[in-house]
Amino acid sequence: MNNYKEMELREVINKRKTIRDFQNKEISEHIIEYAIQNAFKAPTYNHLRDWDFIILNSLEPKLKLIESENINDSVNIEELERIFKGKESIMKEMYIDAIPKQKKMILEAPKVIIVVYKPKIKVKEAKRIYDLNCLASVWTCIQNFLLSLAEDDVFGVTFIPQNIDSIKDKFNIPQDLEIASVIPIGYKSEDAKILKQKKINISERTHNEEW
Ligand SMILES: Cc1cc2nc3c(=O)[nH]c(=O)nc-3n(C[C@H](O)[C@H](O)[C@H](O)COP(=O)(O)O)c2cc1C
Repeated sequence: MNNYKEMELREVINKRKTIRDFQNKEISEHIIEYAIQNAFKAPTYNHLRDWDFIILNSLEPKLKLIESENINDSVNIEELERIFKGKESIMKEMYIDAIPKQKKMILEAPKVIIVVYKPKIKVKEAKRIYDLNCLASVWTCIQNFLLSLAEDDVFGVTFIPQNIDSIKDKFNIPQDLEIASVIPIGYKSEDAKILKQKKINISERTHNEEW
């Protein structure tokens, strides 16, 4: 549905960043539909792609989410400074920016997407990595979704809810399914904070034949 040149994969990979500050601008349905189509092309452990997307458009469902998660507005920056003292500064910078925005990003994003997946077994019963293949698969789907949106200048933030049962209940999600992430998406605001990614020396992280 794009009427302009498709971007190179390498450009899109560099462009995708987590954004928590959104413009008050609607996203066309075509962009979201295209991103969901691309999400469903991701690898999947059992070939079934047991994923669903719930699209929230209005304030009322966003308030239901915030209520379920009991997200607190009042964040004490000094307290955060104390908690993250001694931690890598790049990580501290991320949390100090991100934590106070958790409620605002849900309220201000023009769309919030709940990504649902079918678990093999309940997460708390998982004993082996293999049991979590369903979760690994849905995250490959989420990555395709985010990359596809970035191609259209739309960005998101993968919020991980704590009170999944309450969200399932409020949004009528079938009991046998689980929520992977809640993703507020939108165009970035002019003053959107884009955090630097940690520089990784690939040669230190690449091992030949053995560690
Ligand atoms: C599994 C996972 C959980 C995350 N949880 C949250 C979250 O609850 N709230 C939030 O604001 N960001 C969350 N993030 C976004 C990360 O903070 C972000 O991806 C990271 O800082 C790297 O920044 P980048 O995406 O711009 O490269 C999460 C990301 C992942 C992959």
